[in-house]
Amino acid sequence: MSVTTLDPATFRHVLGHHPTGVAVVAGLDPDGQPVGLTVGTFTSVSLDPPLVGFLPTRESASFAEIRKAGRFTVNVLAHDQEHICRALARPAGTKFDGLDWTPSGNGCPLLPDVVCSIDCELESCTPAGDHYFVTGAVQDLRIHRSAAPLLFFRGGFGSFTGIDREATATR
Ligand SMILES: Cc1cc2nc3c(=O)[nH]c(=O)nc-3n(C[C@H](O)[C@H](O)[C@H](O)COP(=O)(O)O)c2cc1C
Repeated sequence: MSVTTLDPATFRHVLGHHPTGVAVVAGLDPDGQPVGLTVGTFTSVSLDPPLVGFLPTRESASFAEIRKAGRFTVNVLAHDQEHICRALARPAGTKFDGLDWTPSGNGCPLLPDVVCSIDCELESCTPAGDHYFVTGAVQDLRIHRSAAPLLFFRGGFGSFTGIDREATATR
């Protein structure tokens, strides 16, 4: 298909065939209240220096607060945390209602029972069409739970049912 005939629905439909993990990027607003958003765009960026990245839409009110604070924690969701994914995908305001969290090493919200978390200082924020490409300099990172991740694929949620990494670790 030529780019000149591309419409948003086709873009979403085709790109939806690429599976992604699901993470919550969380920080604190100036009043110390938790803010955050669900992203499917979290990725590892660089080993030296250690950088990770994600792509928030330019309209994201939650990212605007995170940007002001200059730090965030990435919470990688497990297969049984779809409810957290949905809560943090709501418009800003009531996302954390009913959700437990504790301060991570950088003070940003760490959600319970996530697979792993990555504490970051905001390193760069580059316009990329209607999104930003944000990189974070990794300050700390931890595995909390040996659980299968939550995955998003073709508009629905699922998980990973492939090889057992621990059983094959000696290969
Ligand atoms: C599985 C999933 C993945 C998402 N990935 C992104 C993403 O990578 N970037 C983004 O800006 N929004 C993404 N969203 C939508 C945001 O979570 C949602 O628009 C945002 O939380 C709205 O709140 P805000 O305006 O306060 O930012 C995703 C939503 C879901 C359910």
